[in-house]
Amino acid sequence: MRQYFIVLSSLTLIFTLGITLLLDKNWSVIFLIVLVISILGYIDMFQTKHTIRRIYPVLGRFRYIMEELRPKLYQYFIESDIDGRPFSRIERSTVYQRAKQELETIPFGTQLDVYQEGYEWMCHSMSPKAFEDLDQDPRVIIGNRDCKQPYSSSMLNISAMSYGALSAQAVEALNGGAKIGNFAHNTGEGGISTYHLKHGGDLIWQIGTGYFGCRDEKGNFNPELFSKNAQLPNVKMIELKISQGAKPGHGGILPASKNSEEIAKIRHVKPHTKIASPPYHTAFSTPLEMVQFIQKLRDLSGRKPIGFKLCIGHKAEFISICKAMIHLDIYPDFITIDGGEGGTGAAPQEFSNYIGAPMLDGLAFVDNILNGLNIRKHIKIIASGKITSAFHVARAVALGADACNSARAMMMALGCIQALLCNTNKCPTGITTQDPKLTIGLVVEDKKTRVANYHKGIIKNFVELLGASGLDDMKNLTRSHIYKRVDLNKMKTYEEVFPSIKPGSMLQGEIPEKYQFDFDHSNMNRWGLTTNGNQYI
Ligand SMILES: Cc1cc2nc3c(=O)[nH]c(=O)nc-3n(C[C@H](O)[C@H](O)[C@H](O)COP(=O)(O)O)c2cc1C
Repeated sequence: MRQYFIVLSSLTLIFTLGITLLLDKNWSVIFLIVLVISILGYIDMFQTKHTIRRIYPVLGRFRYIMEELRPKLYQYFIESDIDGRPFSRIERSTVYQRAKQELETIPFGTQLDVYQEGYEWMCHSMSPKAFEDLDQDPRVIIGNRDCKQPYSSSMLNISAMSYGALSAQAVEALNGGAKIGNFAHNTGEGGISTYHLKHGGDLIWQIGTGYFGCRDEKGNFNPELFSKNAQLPNVKMIELKISQGAKPGHGGILPASKNSEEIAKIRHVKPHTKIASPPYHTAFSTPLEMVQFIQKLRDLSGRKPIGFKLCIGHKAEFISICKAMIHLDIYPDFITIDGGEGGTGAAPQEFSNYIGAPMLDGLAFVDNILNGLNIRKHIKIIASGKITSAFHVARAVALGADACNSARAMMMALGCIQALLCNTNKCPTGITTQDPKLTIGLVVEDKKTRVANYHKGIIKNFVELLGASGLDDMKNLTRSHIYKRVDLNKMKTYEEVFPSIKPGSMLQGEIPEKYQFDFDHSNMNRWGLTTNGNQYI
């Protein structure tokens, strides 16, 4: 190929130069074009980084152009309505239509294959309830007996996403939407910025392992700073982040280049330095200490609702936390269960694809353990993981959630087109970028209304689903209301797939076999499963 190129380019150069000199000077344009292409070809042949370009000079470049264009061509010309990852076109369109308050109905029936394994549906009743007669904005009170400032939460709130991962405009629009729709906005672990406060929407302040906004010089938890920020009137709840589904057990680095004066001020770190968030917390090192830390946060915050967020990993560790709660008689006000299917701005492929229990499995497990140990009454459960429609909310509630969080659907309400560029600072919709040339496109006043519209649409449709099921209270939505096709000729209710547990039964020693190993290896004085040869200790 290289020889062909050398011969062909040389002959074309000689030919075009010849006719330029002998026939017509206008041919010089063609000569110059051939010259530029030839120079590119020689650059390709002599560079040492790209094999394809070295072997196929000039032509090899098309591979990179096609790779660049592939996702766009696929999304616009090839993808069907039920294709598209992580979110199908149908799921995205539902969010866009609700956000823009456009036509919400679909013509000519479902496009889903209802006989495909994994297809799910909800049972309706012969005696549905009239939508108008139902509570149009069902809410859940979060705050147990130790909480002095319980929060009346919407069924759907904005999941954790930091300023830094999101642009200032995106944060403002989310918070503005939360204010209009009376729901809550989780700050993410990057601290509370002015953009979170400007529009007055309710905040859930998230604290990760970097303790941003409540750390000392060395990166350890600082009680005074925590107390100061926790007492802000906008902060309605506080969430201790143990892990998130997209990258459980993975810390993070804030590079010096991104650590601007503004970000440094919000996070209480030195500007222009590299800041690491370790994968583990330094404020506690055992399940018992973690529960004591929750009580400390509660006291320092003026007894606001305190919860923690995690994606289920070792089940024994979660049981260890529950044992510690019972031992200390201290309970968090809420637990957020994030699924391994969760998203983030940037995560290693293996962590996103292969670590962490999916949301439905984690949620059923947590609800079962809290019920079995009779401590569910103290703790509300919030679920997150690809919740985009009212059916997803209803399914999570049926499985055990009291409320749901959504991150990426809220981004879509802001205008995200699933360009999959969150990790490049080149987000074309100005949401996950700090580039002013791109963020200028996101108009806060318009997008905050869309976020509120989307939320309103989901709640309205959730209430309609309840009514169709003959229920007037979401508390009566159970695992038996959801069916799943497990093969072509077989369907099961969620109750059969994820059998529920009688409250308090585990205290009577009735531990289902599937949890026995995890109970045996739970220990409130240490994390993890340690092994001694073949033996777990
Ligand atoms: C851009 C982006 C940033 C995120 N940042 C955080 C974060 O700071 N803390 C956290 O706990 N989760 C974070 N998440 C995870 C979400 O809060 C959520 O748990 C996960 O994406 C699942 O919800 P979803 O499927 O509705 O997106 C982030 C997600 C995205 C997309």
